[in-house]
Amino acid sequence: MYIYKAGVVGGGTMGAGIAQAISYGGLPVVLKDVSPAAVDKALAAARAIYQGRVDKGKMAPQELEAKMALITGATDLAAFKDVDLVIEAVPERLELKRQAFAELDRVCPPTAILASNTSALSISALGAATHRPEKVIGLHFFFPAHVMKLVEIIPGVVTAQETVEDATAFAEGLRKLPVRVNECPGFLVNRLLMPYLNEAVFCLQEGSATMPEIESAMTALGWPMGPFTLVDALGLDVCAEAGKVLLDGYGERMRPAALWTSLLDAKRFGRKSGAGFYRYAESSDPRAAGTADEALAQMLVQTASGGARASPGTSHEESPLAPATRRFSQERLMFGMVNEAILALQEGISSAADIDLAVVAGLGYPMSDGGILHYADRVGLDVVLAGLERFARELGPRFHPAYRLRQMVAAGLLGVKTKRGFFEYP
Ligand SMILES: NC(=O)c1ccc[n+]([C@@H]2O[C@H](COP(=O)([O-])OP(=O)(O)OC[C@H]3O[C@@H](n4cnc5c(N)ncnc54)[C@H](O)[C@@H]3O)[C@@H](O)[C@H]2O)c1
Repeated sequence: MYIYKAGVVGGGTMGAGIAQAISYGGLPVVLKDVSPAAVDKALAAARAIYQGRVDKGKMAPQELEAKMALITGATDLAAFKDVDLVIEAVPERLELKRQAFAELDRVCPPTAILASNTSALSISALGAATHRPEKVIGLHFFFPAHVMKLVEIIPGVVTAQETVEDATAFAEGLRKLPVRVNECPGFLVNRLLMPYLNEAVFCLQEGSATMPEIESAMTALGWPMGPFTLVDALGLDVCAEAGKVLLDGYGERMRPAALWTSLLDAKRFGRKSGAGFYRYAESSDPRAAGTADEALAQMLVQTASGGARASPGTSHEESPLAPATRRFSQERLMFGMVNEAILALQEGISSAADIDLAVVAGLGYPMSDGGILHYADRVGLDVVLAGLERFARELGPRFHPAYRLRQMVAAGLLGVKTKRGFFEYP
């Protein structure tokens, strides 16, 4: 089904950017929010994105007006009576979203696709709020939506294949990079990212390495920024929410390190609150680097002496007194992510190619290196397996290797050196 007209419900941080991306792709879009003031704010946000292009000489002012003319603001659901696809981007509360879906189901044409930009809620549960669950799907854009190319396409249990194909074609039409992700806690990007970030926090809290050492070791591998800079940019509260979903969904291997709690208790939510892992001076430049501060150093001492209130059910694994075997290495962070990627692969969540695309387009892992499974193929799957087994012995069962990895090593598929691993090599 071709999408001739789209809708967006909720014109906040994500909705305004998504509406801009749709209009930029050349499609008319209705943007609904709760009040005329909220709609005006959303339209102004979309206009500001275009204005940025005009200012850089990438777009003529007339083109800006032509694109903005494709976006119609609305406060009334009746505006959705002739749309082919709607993306819901209201706040992340299940009841609010279920209500939005039930309302959209009543007003939208029966053929329309109802999509959600949820970061973590169940697509199947949203589908159940409608009479068309086969037409309900996750379309997860990343912040900032007008810049980030990745879109996770997440079918629920009863979503029709046709809906998946239409939603994928729609995202491609916006010049985005869609990856298919079967519904699972955290979807794909958050599921792979959080173990990596959590391991960085474990290393810091154990005293295995300092923040600058960990940051520079990871940027040396090609990551666009170090893990603590990334957490501060994402927001510790946002990471903590994602962490809860993952702990709930996967259990112990996703248990957050105690230091997260110390920082959250101190209201250090990251760059937006003036401090997270780093402290940020008030500055007009939102990219200005943060600095380490004394309060974090004290928190580390307190966590190391067991003073921090650990997250409920904290296991012995989190013992703050680092045994001699607890050392920082790039592999500790990378192999945890590789293992989670292999678990997602063996569960049939995504294909190997889509997993790698998600890591490159969603997390900025260098394109030239081809993503996390290409990384594993280069390192050697036997090396990854041996590393995970050692980490599992020394650091705990969160490193327990995925069965698919053992299988591949047993079959002699070791990656680049045998010309076959997750991918084939000439
Ligand atoms: N912010 C991010 O970085 C990010 C990234 C990816 C996904 N998401 C997801 O996108 C969704 C929206 O997040 P956000 O950060 O844009 O939230 P936000 O709070 O910035 O915006 C939500 C908007 O929805 C409006 N709204 C509330 N109820 C409404 C209703 N019944 N009808 C119409 N509009 C309504 C609000 O007025 C507000 O403008 C959430 O599900 C979130 O998890 C957010």
